Parts: sequence; structure tokens; C-alpha cells
Amino acid sequence: MYLGLDLGTSGVKALLIDDDQRIVGSATGELDVSRPHSGWSEQNPADWISATEEAVGELKSAHPAELASVRGIGLSGQMHGATLLGDAGEAQRPCILWNDTRSHKEAAALDADPRFRALTGNIVFPGFTAPKLAWVKANEPDVFKSVRKVLLPKDYLRLWLTGENISEMSDSAGTAWLDVAKRSWAPELLEATDLDESHMPALVEGTEPGGTLRGELAARWGMGGNVVVAGGAGDNAASACGMGAVRPGDAFVSLGTSGVLFAANEAYLPNPESAVHTFCHALPGAWHQMGVILSATDSLNWLEDITGRSAADLTGELGDTLKAPTGVTFLPYLSGERTPHNDAAIRGAFAGLAHQSGRAELTQAILEGVAFAFRDSLEALKAAGTELQRVTAIGGGSRSRYWLNAIATALDLPVDLPADGDFGAAFGAARLGLIAANGADPIAVCTAPKIAQTIEPDSNLVPAFADAYARYRALYPAIKGVQT
Ligand code: XUL
Repeated sequence: MYLGLDLGTSGVKALLIDDDQRIVGSATGELDVSRPHSGWSEQNPADWISATEEAVGELKSAHPAELASVRGIGLSGQMHGATLLGDAGEAQRPCILWNDTRSHKEAAALDADPRFRALTGNIVFPGFTAPKLAWVKANEPDVFKSVRKVLLPKDYLRLWLTGENISEMSDSAGTAWLDVAKRSWAPELLEATDLDESHMPALVEGTEPGGTLRGELAARWGMGGNVVVAGGAGDNAASACGMGAVRPGDAFVSLGTSGVLFAANEAYLPNPESAVHTFCHALPGAWHQMGVILSATDSLNWLEDITGRSAADLTGELGDTLKAPTGVTFLPYLSGERTPHNDAAIRGAFAGLAHQSGRAELTQAILEGVAFAFRDSLEALKAAGTELQRVTAIGGGSRSRYWLNAIATALDLPVDLPADGDFGAAFGAARLGLIAANGADPIAVCTAPKIAQTIEPDSNLVPAFADAYARYRALYPAIKGVQT
């Protein structure tokens, strides 16, 4: 048996697979995000541990014998978070998360230093880890002075699980301190934020062992000794392992809190100008590109809060059959945007509202707006030299057929829907646990799921979607000038 632990933004998911990669069970411990100021987004690292205990505890109640025979654990996690630890490994402040944009000034300053783009292959986005440390140094100097280690969220979980400070390439590529081509820390980039390699964890590949489960936890969960904890991956690379997106040209669209259009590459292909992210894959010798939008299902969650209706009710009101855009345009920039704008200050908008624009029209505009944001990412990937032929859909939002129809039509690409199952980050993490425990061949393990259905673009509506996309594109520069 192998256990995948995915530390997401809204919860920690624990998923158990057997030696044939069949899912035995899964459980989730919920997490909240604290937003003390506009653009801030934080979590308390202690809550990650409680949520993990809750999820694994639930698995233990449901499948005690199976959990007891776990031999490998894989970790996946929300990327970029700055978890700042003192001398004894204690958190010095709440973790500053991936969708926190407070460090936009520091990010711009680091990005202006040409070494960052040259070595990391990426824009220094405000959500990345390095500018957050620059912000802490400027605004919380006592905290900065007390920092001995900077860990990414899933690596903090690993510290609790194994007692070791270890990370791996895919998540570390999102810090802005990694030489992404060489897959090693870049001392000059660390120095630019007044840190050095002693502040960083040791690096392994995602498929390699990265610690052993502490005896106390193994005993609590009924497991034996020598449970290997794999390097694991940032959640997008972990999802890619779950989806089998490991060969060049393999691509997926992930509809989670964030939205990601991901493409696997066999080589390092940076193109920071297009605001594409170029990171190491979890597999040795592989890289990937992705466009990242900050609010995907989070945009629908926002409408849920406003209307008091569940996301399922809201999307259910539209039915499954795609409609032509109504003329209401939504920009999903509730917490700024990464691809293609790298703009932390921009906020969302509805445009084109009319008397007859009711709740359903707003829901429709939100689903379309997110679909158009993916179209922006598709164009950014093209600019970075990657042409996609088709994409597979994953993530909570892919339960909405309407949304998938809108995405296929906005991208003008077929969207494959996996047969029932759970092929996301927790599954990918469990696969990495299996690979690390057995020294298995990653490509043989990370196969693609069976496709239940392919959603083709609605050819009758492709022109109307193209027109609506043009309106969407024109809206960003228009509102940019009038927002504070
Ligand atoms: C990727 C990113 C998000 C988080 C979500 O760059 O910031 O996809 O990893 O968990």
C-alpha cells in the first residue's frame, strides 16, 4: 500500500492505493484561508498538521489493515508558500501562500535583476517565495532575523513526518531561488534576498526517497518501520504524475482553486516574457510549462458566497448545453493575475450587465471568464513554443459539464474526461511514494487514465466564443486605467 498526501489550499487529502494502483480509500481534513488585508492570503502551518492527522485518522478508521501496510508515502502541496522556521523548527509567522500578492513591489525589484529570469526561467511573480522573504525583511525585520529555514508547505509536512529538511525540484522551481536548468539552488539568487544555502532544505528528485516516517507516527498509524517518504512534488507536477502527463505534448487543464494549463516538456524551455511558468517536473530529467490563473473555482466560490447557492446549484441552473455568450463579460482577477498579465493590483470585473442579467447570466459569465483565462494561457504556451492538440480535464470544477463545454469551445480543442476515478495530486503523490519505495520506473507507473469521454468544441458556437474572447481581451487594458 502507498499513501498520497496532498496539502491543498482548501484541505489536506490523504489517498491510499494498493500495489496495483487501485484506490482503496481517501479522506480530507478541511483548511481555511485567512485574508487579513486585501491581497493577503495566509495559513497557520499547525493547521496543516491537524488536517493531515484528521485525514489519516479517518483513513485509519475506515481501512486500518490497509493503512498499516503502507510502505511508501508521497507528498504533494500547494506551491510557493513561505513557511519560515526558527532555530527549533517552529513557525515564526503564518505561512504566506501562493495567492498572496502583498510582495508585488519586492517581486518587481527582484525581477528587474536580470539574473533571476536568466537562472530561474521565470518572471519573479509576487506569489513566488523569494519576494515574500524580501517583504518580510522590509516589514517584519525581527521575524526575518529569526529565520533559519524556509520551507514550502508540503516540505513542512515532511519535516513533521520525518524530522528532515528536504525538498525536491518541482516545488523548489517555484521559489525563484532554483537554477531550474541545473536543478540546484542558485547561491547568487539566495544572496540577493540576504539568505544562503543554509536556509534551504536539501534537494532530491520527486521520485527519490526524501526521508523515513518517524517511529512515533508510524506507531500511531499502525505502520511498520522504514516507511519511505518520497521527494514528491508541487501540486501541479503531482497532478501530472497522477494524470500520466509525463511525455512531451501531454497536457491537462486543472480546475481547482487556481486554474492551470499544464504541458510536459522533455527539455527546459523557458519563456518568461509570455508569463508562462517553466518548472522542473517531478520526474528526473523532465521539465514542464504552465499558465497559471489565480482564481478558477475560487471565482465560482465567490458567487456562492454572494448568492448563498452552492456551486452545483449555480452551474446546474445553466443545464449541460452550451449557450452563446450573453454579452456579460467577467474578468476572474479577484486576487490579481499571473498568466498573462503578471498584475497583482488588478481586480475582477463584470461588464455588459443589463436588466435581464440575472444570477444564471452571472454564473455563465464566470464560467466563460475562466475559460477565456485558460485561452490566454493557451496563447502564452504557444508563444513559448508549445502547441497543444488536446487537453485532459481534472479538478473539482471539471464536475460541471457546462464548464467543460465552455473550455473546449473557448480553446477550440478537444477536452478529454477521465473515466470515474481520482487522478489528481494526491493520486500522483501516492504514485511517487510507490516509485520511491520500490525504485520503480516512473514512466511505467505514471500512465494516463482511461478516457470516458471527449468533449469536442461546439463548432456552431466557436465564432461567438471568439468574439466574446476578443471583448474579454479588450477589457483588461480598459479597466486597468480606471482601477485604484
Ligand atoms: C502554481 C500555483 C498554484 C498552486 C495551487 O504556480 O501557484 O497552482 O500550486 O495550489
